[in-house]
Amino acid sequence: MKKINIGLIGFGTVGTGVVKVLRDNSGVIKERLGAELILKRIADTDVSRDRGVKLDDGVLVKDALTVINDPEISVVIELVGGTGVAKGFILASLDAGKHVVTANKALLSTHGREIFNAAAEKKADVYFEASVGGGIPVIKALREGLAANKIESIYGIINGTANYILTKMTNDGGKFDDVLRRAQEKGYAEADPSFDVDGIDTAHKLAILINLAFGANVKLADIYTEGIRNINQLDIKYAKEFGYRIKLLAIAKSGDSGVEARVHPTMIPAGHPLALVDGVYNAVHLRGNAVGPVMLWGLGAGMMPTASAVVADVIDICRNILNKTSQRVPLPSFTDEDGRAIKIKDTDSLELPYYMRFSAIDKPGVLSKISGVLGGHNISILSVIQKDRKVGGAVPLVIVTHNALERELRAAVKEIETLDIILEKVVYVRIEENLGAAN
Ligand code: NDP
Ligand code: HSE
Repeated sequence: MKKINIGLIGFGTVGTGVVKVLRDNSGVIKERLGAELILKRIADTDVSRDRGVKLDDGVLVKDALTVINDPEISVVIELVGGTGVAKGFILASLDAGKHVVTANKALLSTHGREIFNAAAEKKADVYFEASVGGGIPVIKALREGLAANKIESIYGIINGTANYILTKMTNDGGKFDDVLRRAQEKGYAEADPSFDVDGIDTAHKLAILINLAFGANVKLADIYTEGIRNINQLDIKYAKEFGYRIKLLAIAKSGDSGVEARVHPTMIPAGHPLALVDGVYNAVHLRGNAVGPVMLWGLGAGMMPTASAVVADVIDICRNILNKTSQRVPLPSFTDEDGRAIKIKDTDSLELPYYMRFSAIDKPGVLSKISGVLGGHNISILSVIQKDRKVGGAVPLVIVTHNALERELRAAVKEIETLDIILEKVVYVRIEENLGAAN
């Protein structure tokens, strides 16, 4: 039976999972592939830490170049992460005639085109299934399974850490910092956890999805990004009362006047399948013009689910090697190497219902002042809750609006914050009622 040598750079959480999957599932992988995968070398700066997996002598090395320059290695797996040395490792591997597998969404969302073009020049493959949705095969779905469709919308819960935090806050009333610490202990969080909680990791992944879905070359800066730091127990409680759940959503919607590309906490109907995606689970709801809605759901982070996607990519590439082919599917999903120009819509032109929470003095006339300003900006009120009473003190006054223009909503918030009855910054959260419904 044929043997194919592979090398790994980065023996951390996911790298350890890759070693375990290759060890535990070697039988089924061999039967599927018709060849044996040999993990010939692993490079990591730390060669002494016990990862709980046994390696043959000489496999673990300190210097990544030992992997990259090994002529017997056909596929290099990059699991170092980040936008620093990882890019050099990938480009050097391509230069040395290797194919590459990576999970590095931070790098692909910023330097994806450069890497794909370098791979095309070398007729090599770069596969990156684990970069979005952990173990969920969403990249393959977009590049292959849905290739016959024009993609109309994408709604994703694609950061396990943020979803884990929001779920624990919703179900157990957990405190933000405690829950984040637990996510870090479990290996879900990025090296810099602000990437998870500030929506940056979600934006990295959305950029990858948009570029695959629309053949575009969208930059991170084009994606409106807002994280979950300002979500507190009050908003979670009121969302439930209005029949919503709060999720950090990645949203891309294609319309006549351009594509909406945004990441922010969103209230969604409690009965929508995305509202039921809890904990470290991720889900991506896609709509194609021929297929209609498709939803993929699964574990979006963690050692083994992520390793599952990485090893599947290795198998895919090895199938190409065995069939003496490469670049069968264009890496960015479309054949245009510079990316199609698409217009990203400004959030000012969004037209959505909004949840608004005011911390207002509890006295007669407050509601009429607020509704007066909203009315002046053409924003009409769907419902109001004001339950807690604290005469003379601050009480939360909560309003859900009908569809309103975001430009007007922001202007209204600015005006309301100048009123002497308002004691704190106004909180507002966008509401998506018809996620993925036909246009
Ligand atoms: P880790 O930090 O656990 O692992 C990275 C490893 O690379 C560490 O062992 C690190 O060593 C090592 N490393 C750093 N610099 C070098 C170098 N110059 N040469 C060789 N090794 C080096 O990260 P993860 O395993 O969590 O993530 C890996 C990639 O997978 C990232 O791109 C991440 O975004 C992505 N990903 C992670 C998921 C997860 O659930 N963890 C899910 C999906 C994707 P040291 O610690 O000593 O610096
Ligand atoms: N930090 C990321 C998450 C890892 O929590 O989803 C998976 O990409």
